[in-house]
Amino acid sequence: MTNLHAPMQPSKLQNYNSTRGATAYKADYQNKLHRKWSDKRERALLHAYFARIGQVDSILDLPCGHGRLSDLLRQHCKTLIEGDWSHTMVHLNQKDHGTDHRHYVRASALEIPLPDRAVDVVVSFRLSHHLETPELRERHLRELFRVARKHVIVTWFSATSLKNLLRELRVKVAGKKPKNVLRNERVRAIAGEAGYRQQLAKPLFVIGSGHVLGLFSRS
Ligand SMILES: C[S@@+](CC[C@H](N)C(=O)[O-])C[C@H]1O[C@@H](n2cnc3c(N)ncnc32)[C@H](O)[C@@H]1O
Repeated sequence: MTNLHAPMQPSKLQNYNSTRGATAYKADYQNKLHRKWSDKRERALLHAYFARIGQVDSILDLPCGHGRLSDLLRQHCKTLIEGDWSHTMVHLNQKDHGTDHRHYVRASALEIPLPDRAVDVVVSFRLSHHLETPELRERHLRELFRVARKHVIVTWFSATSLKNLLRELRVKVAGKKPKNVLRNERVRAIAGEAGYRQQLAKPLFVIGSGHVLGLFSRS
């Protein structure tokens, strides 16, 4: 059962909150080839998006995980806030990256403990596809748009990606579990309702991944 306070499968949440799970997630990015490729591509896209945005005062990175993107994001702002639902991830991140112009908070991206327009940019990577219902995925987006003053950079799993279309076949034929997807036009509509416009939406990879990285700016 998933809800606002436990929005992904309990076993996944427990894994991210455990020392073993958090360190394994970090190690995957150091050891596994597909993780290294996607990390490289995400960094290239993030740098390109920030080339468009320019330097900002503040960025909220939620969920930050173990701080995979912390150093990159720190290059583009004066103050970086790193947040995650998992205490263990936040602790590991702080231990590795320190507190110079960086703040840490244990928080849910579905109920961000910040006022409207509190930071210049909100970045939210690799959470949407873990959220178990469309309502939670849409709520996540609305929270990001609420807290950002200028821009939101967010990933979601696209319903129209090749990877998802193939999965839909396997759902029908082999009874596989469906992916936690969003339709791109629905993401744009939610952005529009919040006063944002989509600037860019690049697939992580056209083949082999359904993730899209979107950049939205306040109109
Ligand atoms: C796949 S990791 C992504 C971490 C980081 N953004 C990255 O790309 O490396 C997913 C993270 O989401 C965190 N998480 C799960 N539910 C959350 C929630 N409701 N709010 C904030 N973080 C959450 C987990 O603890 C985990 O660190």
